[in-house]
Amino acid sequence: MFPVFHENLFLSQRLKAAPGAHVLDIGFGSGIFSIKAALKGACRVYGTDINPKAQEYAIRNSIINGVEDKVHFYVGDTYEPLRDQSVPRFDLICTNPPFLPIPEGIPYYLHSNGGPHGTTVISKILRGVRDNILPQGCFQMVTMSLGDAGSETLVGKLLQDTFVGQSVAISVTQLKDPLPLSAYISNLRDRVIAGNFLDEHAFDQKMQPWETDCTTQGMTHLHYLFVEMHFGRSSSYRFDRDDSGVEDVRQTIRDDYGFPGGIQWDD
Ligand SMILES: C[S@@+](CC[C@H](N)C(=O)[O-])C[C@H]1O[C@@H](n2cnc3c(N)ncnc32)[C@H](O)[C@@H]1O
Repeated sequence: MFPVFHENLFLSQRLKAAPGAHVLDIGFGSGIFSIKAALKGACRVYGTDINPKAQEYAIRNSIINGVEDKVHFYVGDTYEPLRDQSVPRFDLICTNPPFLPIPEGIPYYLHSNGGPHGTTVISKILRGVRDNILPQGCFQMVTMSLGDAGSETLVGKLLQDTFVGQSVAISVTQLKDPLPLSAYISNLRDRVIAGNFLDEHAFDQKMQPWETDCTTQGMTHLHYLFVEMHFGRSSSYRFDRDDSGVEDVRQTIRDDYGFPGGIQWDD
């Protein structure tokens, strides 16, 4: 299961869930966005997550917050569990998908493995937005993305490619300084070895060609991003930066939601 991080708190504090809204939370994990939406007065909140353990945690967390009647947590891939539920389109779709770029052959936690470029689940989510959102709906996502040292990111490109020519205002906000690829690889190495997924030699062997490939393509950093899209508006794309962040995320989660922000990484 997934510990709650800065970016989850950032989005939960900015969630565009109006009273009466229908909300979809993809990859609900702890349930933090779904719970917040219900607390803000959303009348129906659906969450999907491929991890059955997440469902247990999220239901428990929704009970702690007294919103268990408003939230419906389903186990399954992205939009798949909604297929047979004949749910209406959503006012808000929010997500904190698995976003870490993990090269082929490196076993890693389900909650964060975004495939070789970090975009496997993100692409699937973005492709399904149009069919599941209301004409004036809003989409919010916190994620990481490969990119250069400036403002070019893979997720930014994916957004522009997916929604080109459509009436949607896209804003992408950088939340912290981008992390150099070398620092990311070093963190990942520590976690893979601590999790007994691979030994150091095997990790380095698999990582080196991936690093060369990324660098050759100009992808030298990892960006923390907040994406917001408003449908039914003139087409636009904006990139900016917001450094405001909460220092003690885990304590804030505990104070605001009554559940621990630091649950174990166990699968
Ligand atoms: C980065 S975690 C975010 C969790 C949640 N936002 C939170 O703060 O607790 C990503 C979540 O997406 C789920 N997930 C991974 N692949 C998925 C998929 N294809 N469809 C739905 N959920 C998925 C993981 O199980 C994990 O709970």
